[in-house]
Amino acid sequence: MKRNIFQKQDDSEKSGSEETTQQESAEATYASVLTGDAPAGELTDVINLVNINQVYTQHNTQNVVFKDFCLDVKDIRDRGQFITIMGKSGCGKSTLLRYISGLQEPTSGDVYIYGKKRTDKDRIPMVFQQYTSFEWKTVLQNVALPLVLNGVPGDEAEARAMEMIKIVGLEGHEKKWAKYPILSGGQLQRVAIARNLVVNPQILLMDEPFGALDTVTRKQIQVFLRSIFENAKIDPTIIFVTHSESEAVFLSTDIFILDSGPATVRHHFVIDLPERRDDSVRYSGEFTEYVNKLGRLLEDLKNEKKP
Ligand SMILES: Nc1ncnc2c1ncn2[C@@H]1O[C@H](COP(=O)(O)OP(=O)(O)OP(=O)(O)O)[C@@H](O)[C@H]1O
Ligand SMILES: [Mg+2]
Repeated sequence: MKRNIFQKQDDSEKSGSEETTQQESAEATYASVLTGDAPAGELTDVINLVNINQVYTQHNTQNVVFKDFCLDVKDIRDRGQFITIMGKSGCGKSTLLRYISGLQEPTSGDVYIYGKKRTDKDRIPMVFQQYTSFEWKTVLQNVALPLVLNGVPGDEAEARAMEMIKIVGLEGHEKKWAKYPILSGGQLQRVAIARNLVVNPQILLMDEPFGALDTVTRKQIQVFLRSIFENAKIDPTIIFVTHSESEAVFLSTDIFILDSGPATVRHHFVIDLPERRDDSVRYSGEFTEYVNKLGRLLEDLKNEKKP
């Protein structure tokens, strides 16, 4: 089934369990986003990482980042997934996203997207922490660029880019250079999001995209991103990396906490907050409980002594 981020299916059903803990094992680490009961045999998994190994050798020392690492992101019927990956610095979060996007190949192992082995042609869009717009192009040219590169005729590319610029709230800025300080950090990040969404991706990857923003802008853009997720015309899959517990809880349907050396999934939370989320969610007791619990687990992991 070919889908894109702006074709909606029906309403959603929530997954039940709140947290599952997965202990390290000598065998392949295995994690699955799906904790509820899936209708068997009908949906193809969104992403499968199979027996991923990554070893870096520097100065005769081996750094084993992934060892037989597996991750399945199941497609859940009529429910978009906002999956956040957390874990201490260097545990492999960005590397995981790069495997999925196609920017990097693991030392060994396979990546499947919607059941098909990823090829060099498949590129999953990714938003980075640093603004990645072309400063010598306007906002409109930046957002239209992926379409132009895909051979979409100029007029159509501009019209579709303009539609996306409106969705991300940048109408009126389309003729400006996509450059700081002509646009603010938050606006530039919206340009990057628009450029990645304009090709109608089924999957969007975001690596600490709001890390460089001030607190107020960051909260505003979280609300904006969540609204895009809620209003997408399909049930999209967003894989997001952050170090902020409150950002993770506010945005996610699922949070995975990775441990390092080699990477394993230590915890999986299902965030059972209302599907429609605005700033008021941040003041709920449930929200605070999730944030505190997440904070404690991350701290425990950081302080854990490895044998
Ligand atoms: N090209 C490389 N050469 C050598 N080591 C590398 C290379 N790329 C990544 N690594 C190592 O792989 C590990 C995982 O890196 P990665 O950037 O995925 O971590 P991360 O979880 O995203 O960290 P952070 O939270 O700091 O962004 C780190 O130990 C890093 O040093
Ligand atoms: Mg990283």
